[in-house]
Amino acid sequence: MPSITVVDRDGSEQAIEAKSGHKVMEIIRDAGMNIEAACGGCCACATCHVYVDGDWFGKLANADEEELDMLDLAMDVQDTSRLSCQLEMSDDLDGLRVELAPA
Ligand code: FES
Repeated sequence: MPSITVVDRDGSEQAIEAKSGHKVMEIIRDAGMNIEAACGGCCACATCHVYVDGDWFGKLANADEEELDMLDLAMDVQDTSRLSCQLEMSDDLDGLRVELAPA
């Protein structure tokens, strides 16, 4: 089973199982980590904001217009910011590393 590594806001990190086809937000949430994801994955809240590790950022499908618009409204945006509800896990992303953005 593929896995992803998630760095929490206190710097601790957790490797969690990540089923292909699931959204990265769902994987993080279902692992019980502290991600708000207020809109449930509709790309309407930006509370699933993560920083993607630099080595992985370029391997992701590009953000669509809707995600970019929502990221414009997010706080503490960095060059590698993405909304995790818009990231679909695949076998190619086995080992993906993301950090939870400040709440
Ligand atoms: S969960 Fe709301 S934008 Fe991702």
